Amino acid sequence: MLKIDNVSKSYTTPRGELSILANVSLTLARGQAAAIMGPSGSGKSTLLYIVGALDRPTSGSVTLDGADPYTLDESRQAAFRNEHIGFVFQDHSLLPQLSVLENVLTPTLVASSASTSGGDEKRAREILDQVGLGSRLDHRPGELSGGEKQRAAIARALIRNPTLLLCDEPTGNLDASIADSVADLLLDLHRTHNTILVVVTHSPALAERFPARYRMADRALVVA
Ligand SMILES: Nc1ncnc2c1ncn2[C@@H]1O[C@H](COP(=O)(O)OP(=O)(O)O)[C@@H](O)[C@H]1O
Ligand SMILES: [Mg+2]
Repeated sequence: MLKIDNVSKSYTTPRGELSILANVSLTLARGQAAAIMGPSGSGKSTLLYIVGALDRPTSGSVTLDGADPYTLDESRQAAFRNEHIGFVFQDHSLLPQLSVLENVLTPTLVASSASTSGGDEKRAREILDQVGLGSRLDHRPGELSGGEKQRAAIARALIRNPTLLLCDEPTGNLDASIADSVADLLLDLHRTHNTILVVVTHSPALAERFPARYRMADRALVVA
């Protein structure tokens, strides 16, 4: 269960306090998915980073299965993120010098701080099969299309079997038909892996496919 409880975020700027989020609350159970829309600059990414244990809220709390990552010290917080949360960003953020298989395995390297286990590699191959890249394991990201890069990024986000999958404009850089197939894949994997899925998107076509839709409006989350 993901519980976002009265989260607010503000920045102190030379011109004074700048409020970005005000009392945002949302609860999602295992297996639930939500899309968050809203204009550019409305705080969507800020909210996603707070939910993803990457950016501390000014007030309020975020808990995942009862655990609040912001009560942990920095290294435990990083470990929490690595173990429980998968991220997919608009620009895939794959490492260009690594193969597709190595990219998908990077979260497991951080986890053990040693070498990857045979089990990790087996799982990586399985997930790459599921995203349709089973025959591209040795390719570098530069050899993949935009849609394929995003598929690899999704595989990487799922490698540690996260409770929570967060996607920030995951199809924002893709053509409509490719975006559609990446969306199919995301929703399909969300169901088979039983994650909690939160997707931030500009695209009404993507948002429409989610049973729960919200919109950032005046620093708060409202039902869309
Ligand atoms: N470190 C910061 N200091 C001040 N303002 C910031 C900082 N980071 C983000 N913002 C502001 O927060 C607002 C929301 O940004 P963001 O969450 O990226 O919006 P969105 O993802 O909806 O486009 C923007 O106005 C942005 O300029
Ligand atoms: Mg954003």
